[in-house]
Amino acid sequence: MNIAILGFGTVGKGVYEIVKKANGQTRNLSVSHILIRKNKERVLPEMTDNIEEILNDKNTDVVVEAIGGIEPAHEYILSALEHGKHVITANKAVIAVYLKEFTDAAEQNNVKFYFEASVGGGIPWIQGLEKALRIDRVNSIQGIFNGTSNFILDQMSRRGGSFVDVLKEAQKLGYAEADPSADIDGIDVANKLCISCDIAYNIDIKNRKALPIFGIRNITAKDVEYFAKKGLSVKLIGRTHQKGNKFDYVVEPSLFVNHSLEANTPDNYNLISLNGDTIGKLDFFGQGAGMLPTANAVIQDILDIQEEKEHLKREFNKKLEYCPQLTKGDYL
Ligand code: NDP
Ligand code: HSE
Repeated sequence: MNIAILGFGTVGKGVYEIVKKANGQTRNLSVSHILIRKNKERVLPEMTDNIEEILNDKNTDVVVEAIGGIEPAHEYILSALEHGKHVITANKAVIAVYLKEFTDAAEQNNVKFYFEASVGGGIPWIQGLEKALRIDRVNSIQGIFNGTSNFILDQMSRRGGSFVDVLKEAQKLGYAEADPSADIDGIDVANKLCISCDIAYNIDIKNRKALPIFGIRNITAKDVEYFAKKGLSVKLIGRTHQKGNKFDYVVEPSLFVNHSLEANTPDNYNLISLNGDTIGKLDFFGQGAGMLPTANAVIQDILDIQEEKEHLKREFNKKLEYCPQLTKGDYL
């Protein structure tokens, strides 16, 4: 599998690092291109500032979009799908708006569009939710969806640091968005909740601005200390319930007693729970942000595509024995 990485920041570098490692082992993966901005120095041979070069390269199988934001990410993802490339992205901001457009384009062009890393970082949440939906109706989802805000609240309660200082640390560690207001004002959780609702309820939330979203910007070290004295921890929570053909949805800071799972979700970790008809409550826990956990989820998506491709190839070769007139286009 030849991979083009668009954007060489936290996630792009993590993907590059894991591919280099995996290559020395069993997996046949390689990075063909890395797209950087026009004014940036090309410090690696794979680097280019020309998106057309990537789109028109017949040997590039997969495009990993790791630029972030809406444009040009939206344009590049769509063009890559239309050029017959599989696309993988961790970019929840763009998926929350264009998921349907991307999945339709992937279907029309007979390629895959996967986005496991977009919600829950390294946690296989999207896959878990899709698996739950094979059997159950999922009627509620709740959780800690943002690593940066969880890190801030956790550090403030552990060592009483100021909001601004701890946010700077989260940025240094590569957890925060390019514009960290998305993390602390609840927008990032809203995007992740939208994507989860789209999948769980099979809807496309158009008017997201009408949804109630509250962040953690105004929570001080003093507030956190006061809650601790009462045996409580504050966490930024996204939650949704569905009843009939209606659903509710909110992003807000909430208090949890000290022995709860939520209160014991530390650092950059996420805790996401669903409720299904037969499975009941199912919890997903792990690192929700950071270079390697996120890149791991991206690589898992690539490996899924690689395995599907290998399976189709094996099936094609078996059938070829009986029908030598078949061409590759009949199966691949
Ligand atoms: P970064 O800001 O670290 O990286 C983005 C990179 O893309 C930067 O190097 C940036 O360059 C580059 N870039 C921006 N615009 C262009 C362009 N037009 N052409 C080429 N390169 C461009 O972000 P992250 O790696 O942290 O995040 C990437 C995506 O992954 C985002 O959508 C984010 O929400 C998502 N994500 C991030 C996680 C994390 O833990 N960091 C976890 C899960 C998802 P420059 O530095 O010059 O701006
Ligand atoms: N900024 C995001 C977070 C990255 O802190 O959760 C992971 O989506």
